[in-house]
Amino acid sequence: MEIKSIEEYHEMSLVASKMIIDRVKKYPNIKLGLATGGTPEGTYQQLIKDYHENRTSYQGITTFNLDEYIGLAEEDSNSYHYYMDNHLFDHIDINKENTFIPKGDNLNPAEECERYELLLQEKGGVDLQILGIGSNGHIGFNEPGSSFKSRTHLVELTPATREANARFFPSIEDVPKQAITMGIATIMKSKEILLLISGDSKKEAVKRLLSGKVSEDFPASILNQHPNVTILIDQAAAGSMGTYPMLLMK
Ligand code: PGA
Repeated sequence: MEIKSIEEYHEMSLVASKMIIDRVKKYPNIKLGLATGGTPEGTYQQLIKDYHENRTSYQGITTFNLDEYIGLAEEDSNSYHYYMDNHLFDHIDINKENTFIPKGDNLNPAEECERYELLLQEKGGVDLQILGIGSNGHIGFNEPGSSFKSRTHLVELTPATREANARFFPSIEDVPKQAITMGIATIMKSKEILLLISGDSKKEAVKRLLSGKVSEDFPASILNQHPNVTILIDQAAAGSMGTYPMLLMK
């Protein structure tokens, strides 16, 4: 686990985008796992900026998103399909046929989960997975208590997650109650993981993650067992841990 403590969010986004651009240049057919939410927005902005300035090409890459809300169609402005188009795909030369996100409006979510998991396997899995973290330790929408053996599955969102995401919706009642998410075992199969943690609402999560204790009560803790993880933590999220030597050494 390589942990980089970074002064502030903008710089974190720059470091993350550089790492992604480096991999895309080296491996033009790379399969990227993508995350949504507030944290990766700055990284996607930097990828777009670089695309305009340096024309890094995304034509050969394939992407898989971590999750999608149940009940939202692709064109719904709160769907993660919409988010990805809006925050990244519409602004670079990616081939949209090679971008995959679970379909939240499939009337048979169990079938959709199976289809998505199989698709990931058929395509050979994710090379570099970008992750955020919930303040409750969720990765993707794998809430506390999710099995470490889980594959793509249907989840009930916790009240804490719905409250955290209500800022993107007109009101909390509009936040879906369920989602499809890659499972923890699915995420752990990625060859490399880049975890971005920003803001003081993530302070407790950072402490628990870096304690090294691995438990299904705190899903992100499993990342301690992945062989190739980089974690970027901004100062607000690191809090007082930012000064601990362990943060730099681990
Ligand atoms: P955030 O969400 O980036 O909006 O904080 C992260 C997550 O819930 O995984």
